[in-house]
Amino acid sequence: IFSTIPTAPPDAILGLTTQFRADRDPRKVNLGVGAYRTSDNQPYVLPVVRRVEEQLASDQSTTHEYLPQDGLKSFCDASARLILGPNSPAIADARTTTVQALSGTGALRVGLTFVARFISPNTNVYVPKQTWSNHRNVVPASGLPPTVDYRYLDSATGQVDIEALVQDLEAAPPRSVILLHGCAHNPTGADPTKEQWMQILDVVKRRNLLPFFDNAYQGFASGSLETDAWSVRAFVDAGLDMLVAQSYAKNMGMYGERVGALTVVASEKGAEDAIRSQLKAIIRAMYSSPPKHGALIVATILEDEKLFKEWEGELTKMSGRINDMRVKLKAALEKIGTPGTWDHITGQIGMFSYTGLTSQQVAFMREKYHVYMTSNGRISMAGLTDDTVQYVADAMKDAVVS
Ligand code: LMR
Repeated sequence: IFSTIPTAPPDAILGLTTQFRADRDPRKVNLGVGAYRTSDNQPYVLPVVRRVEEQLASDQSTTHEYLPQDGLKSFCDASARLILGPNSPAIADARTTTVQALSGTGALRVGLTFVARFISPNTNVYVPKQTWSNHRNVVPASGLPPTVDYRYLDSATGQVDIEALVQDLEAAPPRSVILLHGCAHNPTGADPTKEQWMQILDVVKRRNLLPFFDNAYQGFASGSLETDAWSVRAFVDAGLDMLVAQSYAKNMGMYGERVGALTVVASEKGAEDAIRSQLKAIIRAMYSSPPKHGALIVATILEDEKLFKEWEGELTKMSGRINDMRVKLKAALEKIGTPGTWDHITGQIGMFSYTGLTSQQVAFMREKYHVYMTSNGRISMAGLTDDTVQYVADAMKDAVVS
C-alpha cells in the first residue's frame, strides 16, 4: 500500500536545521531558521517566561483538562488587545472573534480553511513575491488554489515597490485574500512606510479585498509592541473585514509550544456567534482543541502589568542584540573590502537580513564554510555572535568574489 509513495522534498527552512545538525564541522554556523540565540549562540528562555512557568508548575490548581476548541479565553482576549489595541473600536463593538491557534502557521491554516469554506474554495490568496516559504504550503493545504504573487520589493533600492504592489492589488478580483506581513517582513526586512500602508489600505478597501495579516514579529521590528501593531490597527480603524494571525514564537520565545491566535474582525456586528461556531468546528476536525501550557504562560504575562513590562524589556534586549549584529556584520564586510554595498544590512528591520546573495553563493558558503542560510540569501541575524561574525563576513566575501 505504501510502496509507491514518493519522498517529499525537505522544507526550505526546517530542512536546513536538519542538515545543520548532521554537519560535523566545528566551524558550522546556522543562519537558517528564524529563532533567537543569545550572544553565546544558545536558545533563550525569557526569564519572565521561566518564572511564570515555575509558578504554574507548583500551582496545585493547574490541571491538564481539555481546553475548549477555541482555546483559553483569557489568552484570546489578551491577544486581541495586544494586536488591536486596548481601545480598539472593533473590540468595544464586539466585532472580533479570537481563537487560540497552533502558533502563526496554525492561525493561518484555520483562517484560510475558514475562507475556503465560507467565502469560496476558489478564492485567490495574494502573497508578496518575496514571502515566508510556508505561505505557499499552507494556502493550498487549506483547500484554496496555489498562491498568486503580488510584486513587493524593488531590488534596486531594497525598499517596497509600492507602485508595482498597488498595481497588482488593483488587478486582484474582489474578495481575494491579500496576505500582508504586519511588520518585519520575512524575508526582506523591508516594511511599507505609514504612507505606503495607507495606499495599500485604499486599494484593499476600494476593491473589496480581504486582508489577512500575518504578525509573527510584533515587538521585533521596532522593539515596540505598539509601533509594530500600527498597520493592523490602521486597517481595523478603516472598518474592514479582515483576519489577523498572531504568533508568540519569536516575541516570547515560545517556539516549540506553538502559541498563537487567529482573530476575525468583522466590519459589521452580528456574525460573531456564527463565526466562532464555524472556527470551532474547523478546529475540532483538525486537532480538537489547542494545548494549554504555553497559552497559560502567555496569558499570565499579558494580564499582569509588571510581568508585561518585564517582557517589553526583554524584547528591547533581543531586538537590540540583533541590531548590534547588523552593525557588526556590515562593518566586517566593509573592512575586508567585500565588493558591493552593504547598507541594506543595517537598513532592514526584524529578525532577518536579505543579503542579496544568490542561491549559488548560498550553496558555496554552505559547502565550503558550513554556513547555513535559506537559498534566497536570507540570514537570521540572531544566529550571529561576536565569535562568528568575522568568519561569516569572510565567507560572504569569498562567495561574492568567487
Ligand atoms: C522562519 O521564517 O525561519 C521562521 O518563521 C520559522 C519557520 O517556521 O519557518
